[in-house]
Amino acid sequence: MKYENIQLSMAQPLAVLTIDRPKKLNALNKATIKELHHAFKALNKAKEIRAIILTGSGEKAFVAGADIAEFANFSVKQGAQLAANGQEKLFNLVENLATPVIAAVNGFALGGGLELAMACHFRLASDTAKMGLPEVSLGVIPGYGGTQRLPQLIGKGRAMELIMTAGMIDAPTALAYGLVNQVVPQEELLPLCKKIASRITNNSPVAIGYAIKAVNAGFKNTINGYDSEIEAFGNCFGTADFKEGTTAFLEKRKADFPGK
Ligand code: COA
Repeated sequence: MKYENIQLSMAQPLAVLTIDRPKKLNALNKATIKELHHAFKALNKAKEIRAIILTGSGEKAFVAGADIAEFANFSVKQGAQLAANGQEKLFNLVENLATPVIAAVNGFALGGGLELAMACHFRLASDTAKMGLPEVSLGVIPGYGGTQRLPQLIGKGRAMELIMTAGMIDAPTALAYGLVNQVVPQEELLPLCKKIASRITNNSPVAIGYAIKAVNAGFKNTINGYDSEIEAFGNCFGTADFKEGTTAFLEKRKADFPGK
C-alpha cells in the first residue's frame, strides 16, 4: 500500500510512524486511519520490528482530532459506523498490538488525537504538548474510546472534568495526572522515546506480547462501555447541537447551542 498521509521510517528493530498532514494539524481522516491500520498490521507481522513510536509531523501537533470537515454532515447511522469502524480498525488494534507502541506526543493531542495516544501502550510528551477531549464543544462525544480510556488512565473525576469542560491540559498537568510518563523539551522527545524503545527491544518480544495481553485483560470488563460510547456518539449526529457545533468550527465562529 502506498502511504500518502503517514510516513514510515525503519531502523530495525524500531519503526517510527509519523502522521503527516501538518497543514490540517495531522487530523485523522478516513484515509489516514486506513493507512495507519495497514501500517500497524504490517509492522506487527514484521519479525524484525520490536517496537513502534507513533508521532505527528511538524512541531505543532501530534493529532488535532478526527477530521471535523469529513463527518460534519453524517447521519446517526454514519456517526455510529464512524466510531465502530475507527475503534475496531485503529484504536483497539493499537491497544492490543503485541508489538509495543509508544506515543510521542509532540504538540496538540485533541479528541481522536488524544484517543489515539491513549490507545498506545504508553505516552511521552514534549513540554509544548496540549491534551484534551473537546468533542462536547462540537455537540458530540469522544467516539474512539476516549470515554473509557481517559478514566482508566487519570481517574473518573478528572476525566469527567476534562470531557465536560472540553478543556486542554498542558504537559506538566498531564504528567501529574499520569496521562504521560515523562515530559521533555521538543527536541529531546524522539531521542528519549528511542532510548526507552531500545531498552524494551532488549527483552523477549514474546513475553512482552503476553504482558500487553495480560495488562489489557484487566480492563476488559469495560467492553460494554465502548459499545455505549458508539451508540451515544452516533446519536449526537441527529442533534441540532451537533450541526451547530461542527458548522461553527468550520465557519471559524463560536457555537451557539440550541440545547435540549
Ligand atoms: N479536523 C479538521 N481540520 C482541522 C482539525 C480537525 N480536528 N483541527 C485543525 N484543523 C485544521 C483547521 O481547520 C485549519 O485548516 P485551514 O487552514 O484549512 O483553515 C488548520 O487545521 C489549522 O488549524 P487552526 O485552527 O487554524 O490552528 P490554530 O493554531 O488556530 O488552532 C487548534 C489549533 C488545535 C486549537 C484548533 O485547530 C482546533 O480547535 N482544532 C479542533 C480540535 C477538535 O475539536 N478536535 C476534536 C475533533 S472531534
